[in-house]
Amino acid sequence: MGRWVLIILGLIPGVWSGSWDVTYKNQCALKGTSVNLKCKYDYPFGHFLTWIGWSKVSDGGSLIPLPDLPSPPNHFTYTGNNRGDCSLRVNNVQSSDQGAYYFSFSTTLGSWRSNKHALLSVKELTAVVQPYTAREGDTVMLTCRSGCPEPTDIVWFKEQQRVWSSVFQARREDAGSYYCAILGQETVRSASVALSVHYAPTDVKLSVSPSGDIVRGSMVTLTCSSEANPPVAQSGYHLYKDGEYVSSGQSHVTLDIQPRHRGQYHCQAWNNISWRGSDRINSSEINLDVQYYPMNVSVSVNPEHIVEGGSVNLTCSSEANPTADSYMWYKRTETIGSNTLIHVGSGQVLSLPSMESSHGGLYVCNVRNSLGEGNSTEVVLAMKASQHGRNKSTRQIKIRLN
Ligand SMILES: *[C@@H]1O[C@H](CO)[C@@H](O)[C@H](O)[C@H]1NC(C)=O
Ligand SMILES: *[C@@H]1O[C@H](CO)[C@@H](O)[C@H](O)[C@H]1NC(C)=O
Ligand SMILES: *[C@@H]1O[C@H](CO)[C@@H](O)[C@H](O)[C@H]1NC(C)=O
Ligand SMILES: *[C@@H]1O[C@H](CO)[C@@H](O)[C@H](O)[C@H]1NC(C)=O
Ligand SMILES: *[C@@H]1O[C@H](CO)[C@@H](O)[C@H](O)[C@H]1NC(C)=O
Ligand SMILES: *[C@@H]1O[C@H](CO)[C@@H](O)[C@H](O)[C@H]1NC(C)=O
Repeated sequence: MGRWVLIILGLIPGVWSGSWDVTYKNQCALKGTSVNLKCKYDYPFGHFLTWIGWSKVSDGGSLIPLPDLPSPPNHFTYTGNNRGDCSLRVNNVQSSDQGAYYFSFSTTLGSWRSNKHALLSVKELTAVVQPYTAREGDTVMLTCRSGCPEPTDIVWFKEQQRVWSSVFQARREDAGSYYCAILGQETVRSASVALSVHYAPTDVKLSVSPSGDIVRGSMVTLTCSSEANPPVAQSGYHLYKDGEYVSSGQSHVTLDIQPRHRGQYHCQAWNNISWRGSDRINSSEINLDVQYYPMNVSVSVNPEHIVEGGSVNLTCSSEANPTADSYMWYKRTETIGSNTLIHVGSGQVLSLPSMESSHGGLYVCNVRNSLGEGNSTEVVLAMKASQHGRNKSTRQIKIRLN
């Protein structure tokens, strides 16, 4: 308060002292704002003002009247009057407006230009994001430097959205481009500064392609994906099958998928950021199933030693996925000149309740599921009379696998 009074008291005699005088105030302005170059002037009583003019010192040092400067219309506006106030308004200040300005005037009895000048400095807002690379949870501080001493109301934006706090705990969604601007004059803004937020992989997922049923022999790709910053490198992905390491890299291609590839798979991803002390993040497990038509079809005979008249069971087993849903039994009959397969039964077990010599021959089992069929090797049921008296009634069946 006291200072103001002093300044006013000091100025009043100068302004209306009735002597030649021009006083200015240096100004600092942000690019894009409008600024008033404050100026006071006076001249002796009895004079009448005939002319006023502002000029700017060129790079070469000469004085150029403002109307001769290559600036848009109304860039400079005289807001003074004919005695006392000689202020100049500069609209939409540009960097080229920086420099020294002089006010001159003439009266009926003389003219005057002060040997002092008004200095206009043009600054820009500078946004500072500290740190510009943060880990999730780190404190980030936004600072806006104006370069001009006057305190200004600063607001922050992230990609056109207002940011309400200039100090915050980094979350990954805080990553982006920030700039500061003058409240109410948002076109007066700094350049954008990027904030990058680093975090350990999340959403680590293992996916399998094709997505439907996988049939033996087809090409299958297992792909591990994750959300991470910095992104997970190729060497940062590992694939596991049933807990055992399989390979590194984001994708694992199997050209000719086989039943042995069935199992529980998961992948791991890591970058150089750990999460809760854990450096490697596992995906959840996926079950890889491989479908195939019946394979390794075999026939077992029960009992091994068959009594004539006793029952014999032929059991057909196979590896199939999905499980076999049809079993057919054929017997090969060899008559002179022809060789035919006769359908003798169906179901996984072929029961021959009462064994007799006519049942001897070659048997084959045919198994099917939705993907195809498979044949067993042919099984020979041959009855051979025993050479020993007491065991005469016992017949042996010889089983031969082709
Ligand atoms: C991730 O998978 C690896 C390899 O199978 C295993 O050793 C580790 O225990 C798993 N980590 C977690 C947290 O499940
Ligand atoms: C992680 O790696 C990135 C580049 O891949 C690097 O900029 C960053 O400083 C590293 N961070 C740590 C904590 O090592
Ligand atoms: C068929 O048998 C072979 C040899 O024992 C084995 O390697 C293969 O895995 C079996 N096939 C299936 C589908 O189990
Ligand atoms: C053959 O199978 C039938 C029915 O499945 C059973 O009753 C019979 O005991 C079996 N015979 C032999 C010799 O296993
Ligand atoms: C199984 O045997 C039948 C009769 O001989 C034949 O037509 C069919 O092609 C065979 N299937 C396979 C898969 O070998
Ligand atoms: C009859 O056969 C049984 C088993 O097949 C054998 O243990 C027994 O010694 C045989 N008897 C004679 C007299 O050969």
